[in-house]
Amino acid sequence: MVSINSSSRVVILTGAGVSAESGVRTFRDNDGLWEDHRVEDVATPHAWVNDQRLVWRFYQERRRQLLSVDPNPGHLAIAKLEQYLGESFTLITQNVDDLHERGGSKNVIHMHGELAKLRCEMCNHVGVYQGQNHYDREFIPCSDCGHETLRPHIVWFGEIPFEMAKIQEAVSTCEVFISIGTSGHVYPAAGLIEIAKSNAARCIGVNLEPPLNARYFDEFFQGKAGEILPQLVQKWIS
Ligand code: APR
Repeated sequence: MVSINSSSRVVILTGAGVSAESGVRTFRDNDGLWEDHRVEDVATPHAWVNDQRLVWRFYQERRRQLLSVDPNPGHLAIAKLEQYLGESFTLITQNVDDLHERGGSKNVIHMHGELAKLRCEMCNHVGVYQGQNHYDREFIPCSDCGHETLRPHIVWFGEIPFEMAKIQEAVSTCEVFISIGTSGHVYPAAGLIEIAKSNAARCIGVNLEPPLNARYFDEFFQGKAGEILPQLVQKWIS
């Protein structure tokens, strides 16, 4: 078994599977549809240009959903590991929900953006617009430059994920890389394990089913993150 001590450099990459037990639907388990929409109709720059109202309403619904979900034992276990490892721990998530933060994680890299935030395409203002009073609005103007439609602070298909330099640095220097609840379909996230592996990191997977990049795992734990992670973290830190 891969061992972790209090000075191990550990990177965790999470995907939709870690939030599934909280009631947030994953992307690829629903016949190619995401909350009843084709991805290209709601999650691409083209969709935003083509039908801003549809994209806005779709994300307002996703944002509103945050009010009705809570972190699960998987999120809590990851926060516990961060507390144990401190600075030598990096959490990278593809998830746009805020369940890691609400589960106690302090430093979260949201490589695909955050539902809670909106961004101005004109002046690059990024702000937190959370709460029912924001979720009910039909578009929100930029408080800095007045541009009338802030966009979701989400990395859409075809856009470059956030904080790639920081991610590259953490992944290429870690000793243990742990991939949780991600299907391995979407790059560059799916390729991070390859970078870790080629820099001699030990790689661990936790997933309901073997993901596409499962060949890189030194250890694989098949099942629900919310059931497996609390036990694993307890073992690592005791
Ligand atoms: N515990 C662990 N794994 C789970 C659980 C669970 N309770 N439930 C589902 N899974 C697994 C599924 O088996 C699947 O392999 O989580 C994975 C989720 O995969 P996807 O739905 O493809 O989500 P993800 O890998 O995060 O998608 C990556 O694609 O659509 C884009 O930007 C979006 O960030 C997203 C990216």
